[in-house]
Formats: sequence, structure tokens, C-alpha cells
Amino acid sequence: MLALIGGTGAGQPANLQITNRLVVRTPYGDPSGALTFGEVAGRPVVFIARHGYGHTIPPHLINYRANIWALTQQHVTHIVAIASVGGIRADMSPGTLVVPDQILDYTWGRKQTMFEVGEHPVTHVDFTEPYNAELRAAMLDAAQQTQVKLVDGGTYACTQGPRLETAAEIRRIQNDGGDMVGMTGMPEAVLAREAGVPYATLAVVSNWAAGVNTSQKRIVMEDASEIVRQSLSGGVYEILSQLVKQ
Ligand code: HPA
Repeated sequence: MLALIGGTGAGQPANLQITNRLVVRTPYGDPSGALTFGEVAGRPVVFIARHGYGHTIPPHLINYRANIWALTQQHVTHIVAIASVGGIRADMSPGTLVVPDQILDYTWGRKQTMFEVGEHPVTHVDFTEPYNAELRAAMLDAAQQTQVKLVDGGTYACTQGPRLETAAEIRRIQNDGGDMVGMTGMPEAVLAREAGVPYATLAVVSNWAAGVNTSQKRIVMEDASEIVRQSLSGGVYEILSQLVKQ
């Protein structure tokens, strides 16, 4: 069963036929909300809204460990994370869909590991390739089959938030090799790796990152969320429907 984590502007997928909801308690506390079970294109999926169903949980307060743990307890085979990002690279204009292949982590103070609750030997997971290669390939394939444009690769820079970045911070991230910027990619990705579940991100560019487009004086997140909503109905759901069939 595929798990979907929805981000800003990506509430329950429009093509998800809901069957039931499940409240899960975890050793790490409460997830962002109940798990929603249903079907996409006739295949079972489980969905969770990362920011809570009323979009009330800011990025730095999301219980990433509880979310990943709750999903893995449902014996999910893959996790697709939908995440809105600011575009830095020239080909990542608002509305673009990207499957990132690398991560830069600028977050701090977030619980980064599953291995500190209960008795665990010290564990250093390999994170050379932070996203699962097969799942990325399957997503790109699904996009090709549905003729939805999806950019293959790019470095996702994760900032702490909830404020947006300064123009200088984006210049630094760009110098570091960041192509897009979001606030929730970490530690979500590494926790999935620790849990041993293939994880990949479908990033929706919702705005130009701060200072990238000089004609954009400020970033209005309400406009950005609207871009995400349009991208979802204009491609993301199609990709997901195709993906679950593969
Ligand atoms: N910065 C950080 N996170 C984001 C942005 C941004 O510009 N857009 C959407 N998520």
C-alpha cells in the first residue's frame, strides 16, 4: 500500500475515495492527525496531512517521527511526500513539478532519529542518496505516461521556518547547491530511511524563492497555496493515479 503525505495546499487528494480513518498512538507522541484510508484509481492508499487537517501545525512543530511511525505500522510499501517549495533554479518557476534527488538540511532542534526511544544500538543510516531511486524512477515514469511535465532531480534545501528566507539566505543556499527550498523535507526523509520504507518527494514549486525574481518584491503564501492547488489538479493527481497502477 502506498502512503501519501500531503503538504501545504495539498489536503486530501481529490481522487482519493475515503473508506475509513484511524487514530494511531505512537511511542513518539501523536501524529499530525488521523490516518485516512482510501483508494486512488482502485488501489489502496493511506494519507496523512503533514500540517494537520486544519493546517495548524507549523513545519518546526510537526511530529515527523510519529507521522512516519504511524504510516509504517500500516505496512506501507512506499511513501510519496508532496511538498511545496520555493524555486531557486531558473527552470523551477511557480507551477513546476520536481522530483528532487538531493537534500541540504538547515533545520535545527528537530527530533532527527527514531533510535532514541527504547533500546537501540547506535545506528548511522546511509543517506548518500536520500530519496529512494526506484520510487523516483516510478514517479518519473508515471509522469511520462500521463504526459505531465516533471523535472528529474534537484537539491531540496530544508529551512527551519516558519518564516520565509531572506534574499541573502537564498543566495547562500544557491551557492551551497540548493535548487529549491522548503521547510518540511527534513527530518521526514531520514526518518523514512531509518524505518526502511522507500520514500520520495514530489515537490510543487509554489513561488520564486526570496530575491530570485527581482520583480517579486514579497512572497504572498496565499498566492503560493493557490499555485499548489492548481498544480495538484493539473498533474499531481494524474501522476499519483498512474503511479499506484504500476
Ligand atoms: N521557502 C521555504 N519554504 C517554502 C517556500 C519558500 O519560498 N515556498 C514554499 N515552501
